[in-house]
Amino acid sequence: MTSVRVIEEGPDQGDVPTRRITVTVNGRRSVVECEPRLLLAHLLRQGLRLTGTHLGCDTTNCGACTVLVDDRPVKSCTMLAVQADGRAVTTVEGLASPSGLHPLQEGFKEEHGLQCGFCTSGMLMAAKALLAENPDPTEDEVRWALSGNLCRCTGYQNIVKSVLWAAAKLRSDEPEPEA
Ligand code: FES
Ligand code: FES
Repeated sequence: MTSVRVIEEGPDQGDVPTRRITVTVNGRRSVVECEPRLLLAHLLRQGLRLTGTHLGCDTTNCGACTVLVDDRPVKSCTMLAVQADGRAVTTVEGLASPSGLHPLQEGFKEEHGLQCGFCTSGMLMAAKALLAENPDPTEDEVRWALSGNLCRCTGYQNIVKSVLWAAAKLRSDEPEPEA
């Protein structure tokens, strides 16, 4: 009879290693234990139940999953959750304030910037990043900033008008510089 002695055993197949990360989402800090392969989009939607971030393609094409990571637009279907460790994430749920809708949300309402709404959260987040850098964009600049975000319904015209509406509103809300 052959004798066998196992010296060391690797992890069981069901025993997936995890990492502990800390991520601040919409101002709220969460400590999360997750698999290294978990996508940021899945952490947001399934882990933190922030389902306003949509998944349209999972392949970096549609932009429906766009969120801000440290204020920069990122397609959360192509970023690992562990890459967000120690960083600040803003999703569409973080746009409005207790005093009301964000001007971008108002703009989409005023200018009919959505139909089915599937692309809207990604559009809003990409537009937010644009207006933070460029408060007075041209129509072409808006189109360029949103070029990674696809919409199957609107033909884009009203989305661009919505962002320009919001840009004007944000500028008019700015306090006058002191004389
Ligand atoms: S779901 Fe991320 S780009 Fe389409
Ligand atoms: S409003 Fe339907 S995909 Fe854009």
